[in-house]
Amino acid sequence: MYDLHVHILPGIDDGPAEMHESVEMARQAAKGGTEIILATPHRKDVTEGSSVSDVRDLVRTLNRKIRDRAFAVRVVLGMENHLDQDLPPDVAKGRALTMNGSRYILVEMPFFGRPAYVEEVLYQLQGDGLIPVLAHPERIEAFQRDPELLAMFVGKGMLSQVTAGSFVGQWGQEVKRFAEHLLARGLVHVLASDAHAPGAPRPPTLDHGVHAAALLLGREAVERMVLETPLAILEDRPLDSLSPERSVN
Ligand SMILES: [Fe+2]
Repeated sequence: MYDLHVHILPGIDDGPAEMHESVEMARQAAKGGTEIILATPHRKDVTEGSSVSDVRDLVRTLNRKIRDRAFAVRVVLGMENHLDQDLPPDVAKGRALTMNGSRYILVEMPFFGRPAYVEEVLYQLQGDGLIPVLAHPERIEAFQRDPELLAMFVGKGMLSQVTAGSFVGQWGQEVKRFAEHLLARGLVHVLASDAHAPGAPRPPTLDHGVHAAALLLGREAVERMVLETPLAILEDRPLDSLSPERSVN
């Protein structure tokens, strides 16, 4: 599997504090069947407390330690980009990173409220040739209140990344039900762990969530969300041929 949303770099954001914890996260991910981890440090923390070259160095160091231990996983670099008006210029300046250097960019909407600039920024990113991948829409108030907003963004070519753990109640019953609603409506393209530490409560594994989602939508459809689609994103291939899955019932 390919996990496109993981806070695995040490000492950068609210992920692990120390490199040995990052290595343990990689071990657990590999054990759970993840082959590639996209490291997605929060853009704000990289900008304010670190730098893009620092996080690149951390990815190199982490991969060296993973190779030394012969874990069957590797780490590539992305970023979790909170949506604000600086995002498009920050991409141009290289301060905001896309997913493994592709045309796809992981964007985190504000958790609460619906600022007027949300649509403008997303469309500007698209105008710049990028494809926003909206992080955990099931946890975003604007979408919880108005699922049609997410349907509209998806209709305009954006993608949706739901946290696998949401299907097993990691964020409570309300978020679980909303994630299931999005799945049934074909508004989920990618499942990722959004892991922050080794082990609970936000582990770097996908299997439980994938299993729970597969009970609703079928294994084949859900496996595409952790295999074909994320791999196409990492390899910067178009997804035209991959349409979101719809529930048959
Ligand atoms: Fe995250």
